[in-house]
Amino acid sequence: MIGIFDSGIGGLTVVRELLKQAPDASFIYLGDTARTPYGNKSPETVIRYALEDARFLLAHGASSIVVACNTASALASAALREAFPTVPVFEVITPAVEDAISVTKGRVGVIGTRATVTSGIYEKRLREKKEIEVVAAACPLLVPLVEEGWLDDSETKRIIRRYLSPLKQRNVDTLILGCTHYPLLAPLIQHAIGRRVKLIDSGASVVRRVLEHKARSTEHGALNTEHGAKTEKYFLTDLSARSGEIARKWLGRDIRFEKAELEIS
Ligand code: DGL
Repeated sequence: MIGIFDSGIGGLTVVRELLKQAPDASFIYLGDTARTPYGNKSPETVIRYALEDARFLLAHGASSIVVACNTASALASAALREAFPTVPVFEVITPAVEDAISVTKGRVGVIGTRATVTSGIYEKRLREKKEIEVVAAACPLLVPLVEEGWLDDSETKRIIRRYLSPLKQRNVDTLILGCTHYPLLAPLIQHAIGRRVKLIDSGASVVRRVLEHKARSTEHGALNTEHGAKTEKYFLTDLSARSGEIARKWLGRDIRFEKAELEIS
């Protein structure tokens, strides 16, 4: 079973891709809504939260972990791999970098949380592979707006325009949505940055990677832990009616969220 976590409901953008690409795959989702956002926390705190999230998923039967959060991917991937050496850990930065490199003409914008942008991981990884100009901007207000469900409000549009203005001035041709919450705002972001700019949402490619890995592992018998019917479970560390509404809108069906009790280290 695939374990997926995010600081909140943003990782449901990855779940949507999984449901599209492998409707029969079993998975368990955890959104750490009680402690969201992660993006303005210190690296130590994000690492601790990510380890607790992964431990919860593994205790509930996950055999691989998808870090459906750019902040945790940027800051905690190494710690997760070290803590759980036998568990495949998939992060969202590598697929986003590869997708951006395959389409850019040389000028890539990156938007993300403050923690992701401060980590400099996207600049580093993009420039490692190709001579690319990178313009990064932290957009700390967008995660709370998504968690609040303000997906098409005039205030949200104004804030997005303001955040994207420096990237627009630098004429980026590709824009990485470096936070899994942002695909929920994709129409507004596309409108603000302009139609000719290619948006990169790593959800689809991270899911492709997970499924390829799973197919290989199943062949070799290593990860074939799923027997019987498909299971699909959704946990949040704090339950709110709003999360249910947003999930319904985003996934196009009713989701029953259960309360997750994390083991705090
Ligand atoms: N979806 C998370 C990300 O991709 C949001 C982080 C946060 O909680 O600030 O970075």
